[in-house]
Amino acid sequence: MRGGVLGRAALPGQLSGPRAPGPSLLTRPNSGGSSWTRERTLVAVKPDGVQWRLVGNVIPCFERRGFKLVGMKMLQAPERVLVEHYHDLQRKPFYPALISYMTSGPVVAMVWEDPNVVCSSRTMIGHTDSAKAAPGTIRGDFSVHISRNIIHASDSVEEARREIQLWFQSSELVDRADKNHESSIYAA
Ligand code: PPS
Repeated sequence: MRGGVLGRAALPGQLSGPRAPGPSLLTRPNSGGSSWTRERTLVAVKPDGVQWRLVGNVIPCFERRGFKLVGMKMLQAPERVLVEHYHDLQRKPFYPALISYMTSGPVVAMVWEDPNVVCSSRTMIGHTDSAKAAPGTIRGDFSVHISRNIIHASDSVEEARREIQLWFQSSELVDRADKNHESSIYAA
């Protein structure tokens, strides 16, 4: 079940439990030999965010945190992708309106990489309901209603893997070494 600021990513067992590695979601660095694992998450600026010219406000939030952008594209989301993406919400009363909203214009889909990027991104975007989203979060600053909350971020490592594979071909994701950045974060 989804919900709240952190959703499934906030469950203690999932934050500390084992993570199944996947080919494009989890990668290990070429050097260092430490035990950490890099995560990837799917972030999407929704049609209202694109329409309200918020893409340029959103990207710096993730860059300033030092997250690494490894994939990005603008697309008119196919309904079949959205049906799959929101498969666990099909019985919700708002589901038809959600699909209609998400097909109302283009979205900008991104994949960001960093240790703990899933949980951190959920914190940064803020509560699903704009009325409960804290100031300083993306939704707290920019969204006006729960049904127009401008941005999506995966709510668990497992969901992130599923969503990235749904929205991106592996050839659209870049495994780029950012040696100066990584050595400064992971040297310890
Ligand atoms: S749940 O199941 O509603 O408790 O989960 P939640 O994480 O809050 O929301 C899951 C996605 O449904 C969207 N949502 C809504 N859309 C339209 N209207 C209403 N009332 C509504 N409530 C929730 C919410 O934005 C989530 O989509 P994503 O893309 O993950 O942001």
